[in-house]
Amino acid sequence: MTILECKELTKEYYSGENVIKAVDDANLSFAQGEFTAITGPSGSGKSTLLHVLSSLENPTSGEVTYNGESLKKYNDNQLSILRRRRFGFVFQAYNLVQELTGMENILLPVMLDKKKPDEAYLNKLVEVLGIGDRIGHLPSAMSGGQQQRIAIARALANKPAILFADEPTGNLDGKSGREVLALLKYVSAEFGITLILVTHDLSVAEQAQRVLTLSDGKIIRDTKGAAQ
Ligand SMILES: Nc1ncnc2c1ncn2[C@@H]1O[C@H](COP(=O)(O)OP(=O)(O)O)[C@@H](O)[C@H]1O
Ligand SMILES: [Mg+2]
Repeated sequence: MTILECKELTKEYYSGENVIKAVDDANLSFAQGEFTAITGPSGSGKSTLLHVLSSLENPTSGEVTYNGESLKKYNDNQLSILRRRRFGFVFQAYNLVQELTGMENILLPVMLDKKKPDEAYLNKLVEVLGIGDRIGHLPSAMSGGQQQRIAIARALANKPAILFADEPTGNLDGKSGREVLALLKYVSAEFGITLILVTHDLSVAEQAQRVLTLSDGKIIRDTKGAAQ
């Protein structure tokens, strides 16, 4: 089943007289539960594609469809509710609130939504992510890998349908990066979450079920359907 689609999706930026096509006519569909990596060199449009797919930025033209509904119909408030309830985000920077403990950080999106935490689910997340002994600590008492695991738990706290990750292992050393990637793969498979992950690192990308390669805003390769 298709969960997310885009048609003729384009994002242009203006730099003086010049137009930069950061995303140039992307036509894609993402199956529920699939793990897709978006790769390509620096400046090829990976982050911009992730931002327009996830409604963090408005496209210049074209449209994104989530669960059969065009996001063109959504106003800013509806888009922010969609992002909070149905999408999770993990970035290169962990973006944890320094004054809050690990668990308080994880609970933030649930609190924002004024929902009652699903304790069994959150306990399972904490267990799977191996952060049980860190959740009472402040971020300053955690390693980068531990902070990113807390950030992943926070991104998953509202049981999103899609997890968008932009260079999630970019700040980590090789070993913690591999561990975090393995956990992302595991939790998305375990909870049936669609994973769309941006990376310039081919060793990360090759672990995905599908790899999209960008160059100058264009998708120049899509392994979907190809023998792997
Ligand atoms: N906010 C912005 N304003 C102007 N140009 C931008 C902006 N964001 C990205 N760009 C440009 O769009 C292109 C794609 O950038 P980006 O999506 O960040 O690439 P990547 O994530 O692959 O490194 C680059 O040429 C970049 O300079
Ligand atoms: Mg980027």
